[in-house]
Amino acid sequence: MILHKDIDKVLISQEEIENIVNSLAKQIEKDYNDKEFIMVGLLKGSIPFMADLMRHIHLDFFVDCITAASYGSGTETSGTVRIVHDMTVSVKDKHVLIVEDIVDSGHTLSAVVNMLMERGAKSVKICTLCDKPARRKVPLVPDYSGIEVPDAFIVGYGLDFAQKYRNLPYIGILKPEVYETT
Ligand code: IMP
Ligand code: MG
Repeated sequence: MILHKDIDKVLISQEEIENIVNSLAKQIEKDYNDKEFIMVGLLKGSIPFMADLMRHIHLDFFVDCITAASYGSGTETSGTVRIVHDMTVSVKDKHVLIVEDIVDSGHTLSAVVNMLMERGAKSVKICTLCDKPARRKVPLVPDYSGIEVPDAFIVGYGLDFAQKYRNLPYIGILKPEVYETT
């Protein structure tokens, strides 16, 4: 494995990610076996996760995306959530499974969940790869959670810092000097 020069250490290896994704897919497959649902990825962070997850779920379902902006380019949440790009199919009377890279304060997801419920979704559940419960500002418990992560800024496998590092195949902790000088 080639370690990026800005990464301090690997927190979740490529192999661990694969195992987590597999086990999440199995649970979802079991729970949604008799349900029609729409998988909704939050762009851009969920791109690699959703791409891998959907290929392990052997059911028929729709796929759509939402871009919700809650962050600038820094490491702190702003609290206000804006829908930059919306879905193209209706969620009315449909089960929705939101796919997210990480739940941090919970602001983004609670806003998106509320919006989809208001639009008449039959159910809205959350599948997140990473959960950072120490940082939660609103009460929100993901229905499917891959791994609990410590209160550190992590990048890779969709997670960015200032739009970089999304393409790393693992999740790592950034060297502090990288964000201190940005
Ligand atoms: P929340 O609204 O505070 O829960 O923020 C969720 C969003 O913040 C995620 O979808 C990520 O895009 C971003 N985020 C939170 N923590 C991290 C991190 O450690 N690394 C990279 N992005 C993060
Ligand atoms: Mg995100």
